[in-house]
Amino acid sequence: MIPPAPPTQRATTPGRVNLIGEWIDFNGGTVLPMALSQSVSLEMRANQQNQDRVRSAQFPDQVDFDTRAPAAGHWSDYVRGGLQHARAAGWITGGQDVTVESTVPVGAGLSSSAATVVAALKAASAHLANIDPVEIARAAKRIENDFIGVPCGIMDQMAVAIGTTGTVLALDTRDCTHEVIPVPGDWAIAVVHSGIGRALADGRYKARREECLAAAEALNVPYLCDAGLAAAEALPPLLAKRARHVITEGQRSLQAIIALRSGDRPAFGQLMNASHASLRDDLEVSVPEMDEMVRDAGELGADGARITGAGFGGCFVCLIEARQAADWWTSLQARHPGIRRIA
Ligand code: GLA
Repeated sequence: MIPPAPPTQRATTPGRVNLIGEWIDFNGGTVLPMALSQSVSLEMRANQQNQDRVRSAQFPDQVDFDTRAPAAGHWSDYVRGGLQHARAAGWITGGQDVTVESTVPVGAGLSSSAATVVAALKAASAHLANIDPVEIARAAKRIENDFIGVPCGIMDQMAVAIGTTGTVLALDTRDCTHEVIPVPGDWAIAVVHSGIGRALADGRYKARREECLAAAEALNVPYLCDAGLAAAEALPPLLAKRARHVITEGQRSLQAIIALRSGDRPAFGQLMNASHASLRDDLEVSVPEMDEMVRDAGELGADGARITGAGFGGCFVCLIEARQAADWWTSLQARHPGIRRIA
């Protein structure tokens, strides 16, 4: 029997930055996200009605929805998708008054959406023993895919459901097995907002994903990461480029795990640089202003820099020797006054 939920339940879930392994979480790859100190905190209180009332200090509009209402293209969908799942699972009953407080920038590629869904699921199941965070992550992914309509992979949900700050989650996205690897003490990871806005649900994510799936089908492999480069080169030019990114990124992220375990900062940095070039040239998810910032980050002393998350703007992530990080940031910001350091 599922015990009844207490009147008020809470959860806090971090945002994440992906260090390497981009656009491969639905292609059978291994990814390396890291939790951020910015987070989404959510509190829910049963209201004994058939309405979910969702509020956030970050958004001016307060919304009241029938407990079974479909997604409405509104930020509260991420909360309501979680509540509907929790009611269907019997974790909670009836409508909820929900307050969301978030310090994760929205539309920056730092998984504010996944953090919100996972926070809703964690709050709604806070009274239950033995809820596996991997199950929470899988449910959150289904909510994003089926309720919200974003065909994302499992990286973000796993990163925010399991990840802790200061460690990297080396995640095999096929079966969700993972290893937690601490970030070496002499590494600084800088997460920088470019100031260029982006939206994940605008169709470009879906289009790239479909190209990857078409390439896998043409190559007759279950996952594009399994394909060989030589076979991929024989595909029509556009699919060949997409496949080249996915196959080489899959190899880079496995090499990155070895570099991270042994604390080899230059090797990890080179892999990040190669990842950016591949995202720019083969997957074509970068933008010229971001390419310039990433290039300057390297020129000014970062071992590696790359666009992170789904791309098209948002944030880039850089690896710098810890004792150089402050000076590096001062000179990068002098060249690009519009950028903002998130971590
Ligand atoms: C978004 C998606 C993830 C992943 C990344 C790209 O963050 O939600 O599943 O595909 O883009 O690596």
